[in-house]
Amino acid sequence: MRLPTLLAFTGLVALASATPIVPAAPRALPQPVPRKPLKARQNDTAPACAKVSQAIYSPPTRPSQIPAALAWDCINSVPFNASSAKRLVEDLPAWLNWQSTLDVLKNPPAEYAEKVQPGIDIIGGLEQIGRDIDAGRFTSEYGFGWVLYTLFLAAHDGHLQYVPDSVGAIFNWGRPVPLVSVSEDGAQLPAVFVYSDVLGMQYKNISYTPSPVIEIDGEEVTEFLESYSQYGGSQDRDALYNNMFYELAQVSLGAGGAGVGMFAGGGRGRFAYPGDTTTLKFANGSEYTMQNYARLIAPHFRGISTGEDLAKTFFNYNTASVDSQSTPVSSAENEAPLAPAAPGYPVPVVPGPSNLINGFYVNAASYEDVAVLQVPSFIGSTGSGVLFQKTTQDFLAKAAADGKTKLIIDLQANGGGIIMQGIDMFKQLFPDQDPWGANRFRYTEAADLMGQSLSEFASQAPRGVNNLTYKTFQGSWFDYHMDMTVDAKPFESWQQKVGPVEVNGDKYTTLSRWNLSDVLISFVSGGVNVTGYGPLANVTGPPRFKPENIVLLTDGYCASTCTIFSELMTQQAGVKTIAMGGRANKEPIQALGGVKGVNNFAYAYIQQTARAAIRFAPSGQEAKYNVSALRQYDSSLVLGRAATNPSLNSRDGLRRNDASGVALQFIYEEADCRLYYTPEMTVDATAIWKAAADAQWGGSGKCVGGNYGDTQAAGINEVTTKLSSGRVKATLHSFEAFADTFGLETDCRVQADGFMQP
Ligand SMILES: *[C@@H]1O[C@H](CO)[C@@H](O)[C@H](O)[C@H]1NC(C)=O
Ligand SMILES: *[C@@H]1O[C@H](CO)[C@@H](O)[C@H](O)[C@H]1NC(C)=O
Ligand SMILES: *[C@@H]1O[C@H](CO)[C@@H](O)[C@H](O)[C@H]1NC(C)=O
Ligand SMILES: *[C@@H]1O[C@H](CO)[C@@H](O)[C@H](O)[C@H]1NC(C)=O
Ligand SMILES: *[C@@H]1O[C@H](CO)[C@@H](O)[C@H](O)[C@H]1NC(C)=O
Ligand SMILES: *[C@@H]1O[C@H](CO)[C@@H](O)[C@H](O)[C@H]1NC(C)=O
Ligand SMILES: *[C@@H]1O[C@H](CO)[C@@H](O)[C@H](O)[C@H]1NC(C)=O
Ligand SMILES: *[C@@H]1O[C@H](CO)[C@@H](O)[C@H](O)[C@H]1NC(C)=O
Ligand SMILES: *[C@@H]1O[C@H](CO)[C@@H](O)[C@H](O)[C@H]1NC(C)=O
Repeated sequence: MRLPTLLAFTGLVALASATPIVPAAPRALPQPVPRKPLKARQNDTAPACAKVSQAIYSPPTRPSQIPAALAWDCINSVPFNASSAKRLVEDLPAWLNWQSTLDVLKNPPAEYAEKVQPGIDIIGGLEQIGRDIDAGRFTSEYGFGWVLYTLFLAAHDGHLQYVPDSVGAIFNWGRPVPLVSVSEDGAQLPAVFVYSDVLGMQYKNISYTPSPVIEIDGEEVTEFLESYSQYGGSQDRDALYNNMFYELAQVSLGAGGAGVGMFAGGGRGRFAYPGDTTTLKFANGSEYTMQNYARLIAPHFRGISTGEDLAKTFFNYNTASVDSQSTPVSSAENEAPLAPAAPGYPVPVVPGPSNLINGFYVNAASYEDVAVLQVPSFIGSTGSGVLFQKTTQDFLAKAAADGKTKLIIDLQANGGGIIMQGIDMFKQLFPDQDPWGANRFRYTEAADLMGQSLSEFASQAPRGVNNLTYKTFQGSWFDYHMDMTVDAKPFESWQQKVGPVEVNGDKYTTLSRWNLSDVLISFVSGGVNVTGYGPLANVTGPPRFKPENIVLLTDGYCASTCTIFSELMTQQAGVKTIAMGGRANKEPIQALGGVKGVNNFAYAYIQQTARAAIRFAPSGQEAKYNVSALRQYDSSLVLGRAATNPSLNSRDGLRRNDASGVALQFIYEEADCRLYYTPEMTVDATAIWKAAADAQWGGSGKCVGGNYGDTQAAGINEVTTKLSSGRVKATLHSFEAFADTFGLETDCRVQADGFMQP
């Protein structure tokens, strides 16, 4: 299998040089600096930030359409504050110690390092940045912020992120032209097209023949895109590649998804400067240069003329204490409205809340027995958990009543959400199964102290007492009465739960599993009880669909709770997977390409828990806790200097009957079937479902690499010809409904216990 040359995160090597560090990406990641000299702007000597201010406050420029280079010059003019930066890199390790994969990331299993991502020493990287600060190598705040940001990014763990203020709090970036990667007939290698070309073709709305993109800014198109895709949060390279493009499922999530693809500034693409312009070269010889843009994220730009003004107004260099407002998932319920059907989707048979879940049938001859549960999310804490669960209940019942015998579970774009929703959906499908799902934390002294203190505190009141303070800690991992052993026995003490246990040379806590009968499950699940347990213990019996009549459909993005669900579906129930898209090759690809850690913790949650452990210290031990490792979380600088709510992966997921001790995150696993996207599939989700049904139930050989037609690579011209001759008049939604989505930008506010931030 061909791997991109882009391998190691060598930013640290670059940092060790004697040259000053200017704001450019670490060498191994694609350079976010312009590839060509900036266009000379007429006659102005005004400071860059004054020009941004002018652009924002003098129409017709809108805050979302600032020419990219204007904003770039402005953000780069913020002087470097070495003392604040130094404190920041010294404070961060206390939080990073909670990252469950911290040790393994330094030297991951060989297959992971070869096929997925190389290792990264994050703590070592922070130390190096500290030395570079001391050596005076940073010249701007952004230069520092970017190096810090990409250090975290190199872990390719969707739960682990740190977006410094300079990188994400002032501007986001975008390109005005989304792309897609499509195979003309589902068998030939995919080629890259401008999405509006494909859209125009499908709607017979253009008069010219679209031609594939062959170069971007002078670089061969797939090389450019594979390299740029490394700015994404997923670990899998095919999932990362898919995430570059316009995709119906991501768009159906609105601002909560990856927008119109990373190339156009959606998802993590919004943090990477794309240059002032981007030039596409097409196979037909023509070229197109687009003006890239910056979007203002800061609340305003009034009174800002210089980089110093910007820093003074928006950067919290001095944060000593911010009252962090991150609560564990609560049982708050909002009624989420039903949303209009997203572009490219039919009207659902059983609609769920906010297009986060919908039940469909495939209305076409010979697909009468196929039902589709489309699940692009496992919902966040502010969503309608009960409605989400009910959608599956209602749809499975209706599908059975209507004689549907086959079920596609479409998980494209699913970055996770509430852990219990993933487990519940599995139990709705397989009530006769006992979900295993063991997990562990990285052992740390701070975690141990928190558990000692909070287990004792939580035990002072009856379990499930109607008191929010008690429930918060009784429902947390820090009370040993929460969770059970792998043998489904109660833990007898905190000491038994915390271990430590040595596995492959590193220290972890004892493996534990969720006790799904626990009275506090509905407290931690956003209000739902899990099917088969507690008040829903009466739901038993055989599954409605046989495992071979269900298939999981992904685009590789599947992360977090999505992987919890998929692990149970594939390993315990034996359900098969189909993965869509991927790089332009014929190799097998993974179905689960997002983080496979099973719980994220907000940094703020760790801080609050540390404070609570000190406050509720066991009587007689106050002084001990008062001077303990828990004091590492006193300072709020790491929170104050972050543009988004930073989080990390707290729990590893482990596989049943696997004695290796290797976390699921590092296990490479190919999908049972791979399908390319076709042009039609980028405008009509039904086309995807038909192809999935054909591959799963319509006889063998339809998968990529299988015996499906001519698998020779198509010449570029052949692709073009067939793309135009294969016109399909899409009728589901208007051309305008798609065009309206081009301005969609990622602005995700979802908070959940098993979710990868886009
Ligand atoms: C700058 O612009 C002013 C008018 O706006 C003009 O008089 C002047 O010649 C320009 N300077 C340069 C160097 O172009
Ligand atoms: C730099 O950060 C320090 C805190 O570490 C703060 O006291 C100082 O005011 C900052 N300097 C500027 C110029 O903002
Ligand atoms: C394409 O659709 C748009 C919007 O409906 C319309 O204004 C335009 O004339 C159409 N172009 C062609 C070539 O059909
Ligand atoms: C070449 O292809 C591009 C991209 O599809 C298109 O915009 C352009 O009109 C085409 N040029 C010619 C001369 O056909
Ligand atoms: C809940 O318990 C805490 C801790 O004992 C106590 O301080 C608080 O007053 C209780 N709250 C209510 C509403 O009883
Ligand atoms: C699970 O929780 C229930 C209800 O709180 C409790 O009765 C049971 O003993 C627990 N099971 C284990 C194995 O801890
Ligand atoms: C879940 O169970 C609890 C009792 O354990 C009950 O109070 C609550 O109403 C249930 N939630 C739902 C949505 O039925
Ligand atoms: C199980 O019990 C719940 C009430 O706790 C009820 O709403 C539901 O209909 C019951 N389901 C079955 C399958 O009996
Ligand atoms: C905790 O330490 C602080 C000084 O850092 C001191 O003021 C306070 O009295 C101590 N509290 C306890 C309970 O020891």
